[in-house]
Amino acid sequence: TNAIQIAIDGPAAAGKSTIAKIVAEKLGYVYIDTGAMYRAITLKALNAGINMASNEEAGVLLADTEIDLIPIEGGQKVLLDGEDVSEAIRSQYVTKAVSEMAAHELVRRRMVELQQKLAEGRGVVMDGRDIGTHVLPAAALKVFMSASVEERARRRFEENKKRNITTPLEELQAEIAQRDKMDSEREVAPLQQAQDAVYLDTTSLSITEAAAAIMKLAEERS
Ligand code: C5P
Repeated sequence: TNAIQIAIDGPAAAGKSTIAKIVAEKLGYVYIDTGAMYRAITLKALNAGINMASNEEAGVLLADTEIDLIPIEGGQKVLLDGEDVSEAIRSQYVTKAVSEMAAHELVRRRMVELQQKLAEGRGVVMDGRDIGTHVLPAAALKVFMSASVEERARRRFEENKKRNITTPLEELQAEIAQRDKMDSEREVAPLQQAQDAVYLDTTSLSITEAAAAIMKLAEERS
């Protein structure tokens, strides 16, 4: 079988990264979490105090920024200018601001370039919002993964508990819905199902079931 590129897109907290990691591990592919890159530049922008609404200011900041994804056992490490920010980028502070940063054309152009370089010539499982539509348009397998917003909020709530984050469920649900709206309505590469993507509703699927569904599709296409 051939190593293929697998693109997994979908709204926030649909389980994309959990499932993508499992599939990558089983196939011996690299896992690339593109959301982490948008989160990293957002963290830097917040710390630098730039005007988050400005495409130009974001561009200037980016020109002076290095973002690296380092594959590690069971996932990836995110380096921002050499510093490990893997935990810091998961905070509510970053989560609330990321969709505004990710809407900028200059930001997306740079990230897509980096992502395409990371995927070049190897088996990858890449998750995000625009992977099937823009980053890896030739991917052999594209999956659009979703679940009801209630279920996604509940899952994020459970995941947060383990990391001692105590944001109330209602607040999580509102934040997720708001982020989906911004990601779907932005002008540049909005969140959208690619025409040739397989739709996977995980509302009533376990992690094991969802991973198995993707493994089956991957085997058919590799
Ligand atoms: O996947 P995650 O929830 O970590 O993504 C955080 C944010 O990064 C998304 O809400 C979206 O604004 C942005 N993003 C994007 N394109 C991607 C991946 C993430 O715009 N490919």
